[in-house]
Amino acid sequence: ASSLFKRDVVLSDTYSETAELVDMDWDNLGFAFLPTDYMYIMKCARGGDFSKGELQRFGNIEMNPSAGVLNYGQGLFEGLKAYRTKDGNILLFRPEENALRMKQGAERMCMPSPTVEQFVEAVKATVLANKRWVPPPGKGSLYIRPLLMGSGAVLGLAPAPEYTFLIYVSPVGNYFKEGVAPIHLVVEHELHRATPGGTGGVKTIGNYAAVLKAQSAAKARGYSDVLYLDCVNKRYLEEVSSCNIFVVKDNVISTPAIKGTILPGITRKSIIDVARNQGFQVEERLVAVDELLDADEVFCTGTAVVVSPVGSITYLGKRVSYKNEGIGEVSQQLYSVLTRLQMGLIEDKMDWTVEL
Ligand code: COI
Repeated sequence: ASSLFKRDVVLSDTYSETAELVDMDWDNLGFAFLPTDYMYIMKCARGGDFSKGELQRFGNIEMNPSAGVLNYGQGLFEGLKAYRTKDGNILLFRPEENALRMKQGAERMCMPSPTVEQFVEAVKATVLANKRWVPPPGKGSLYIRPLLMGSGAVLGLAPAPEYTFLIYVSPVGNYFKEGVAPIHLVVEHELHRATPGGTGGVKTIGNYAAVLKAQSAAKARGYSDVLYLDCVNKRYLEEVSSCNIFVVKDNVISTPAIKGTILPGITRKSIIDVARNQGFQVEERLVAVDELLDADEVFCTGTAVVVSPVGSITYLGKRVSYKNEGIGEVSQQLYSVLTRLQMGLIEDKMDWTVEL
């Protein structure tokens, strides 16, 4: 991925103020980390409030080896995107939703969190400082990754004495290697992602480490990702490692209800509203794994994956295909409305986009 940009350009401090756009291959962005110009950092003590943050040149950070996040996983992350419009504006999509989700997660993980206003202002400042990395219209987006972590040293198990809120950004294209083509999922029936009363409903870093084993095994067998079932009944759909899931049958769209073990996706929530506005009936409920057998269409949603059609799902060795493994009309329609909204191509009646 590093061959995509010219190193001398990236390292020049003054270039960012003059160049509109980084000179790189914008046509081949995937979802790989690319270093950009600046990151945002704000710290606070346990029991305190975040107050003054600052932009720094992007680079490695120093941390005490005894930091709470490194030893006990006291950490959260967020993900949102900035799009460059045809008129040269930059649009964020529902950043205050990420701020609120981080606040809720911080409460669960015993961490202080930035206020919604601090979060949104910090996101804006970071995107502006890295403006030349926002891809041209139609080529992708700037992925924004806010982190909140226990950066202070602990040895006995306890909340860390100091916290760091950090934002970095990286230009991205499609998440899955399939690009916009349908993905292929396998239902995991031994390992689970989340448990009732656990942290599955917050965006804590450990949830993502916990799915790597099943995900790697699935990828080695040629699948794109894993679909998790609830751990109590081993029967109801939960989510995919990095996104939420929707099932379409006779123009009714169903998705697992939020009940503490599923990540409350902002794209999930937005797609529910978009689908209802488009005249679909949308149900948030328990969705049994057997319903995959006679579904018309299945798709996934997430900030990174946007709306990804599912071509097939394999469960206990049986593979079910949807739409001949092509893109379903409902997925296509919802993808199109959502992304046109995010890119400023249609009127934003919901007031979801925030212009920089
Ligand atoms: C996102 O969609 O923004 C996420 O945080 C998922 C991550 C695994 C890429």
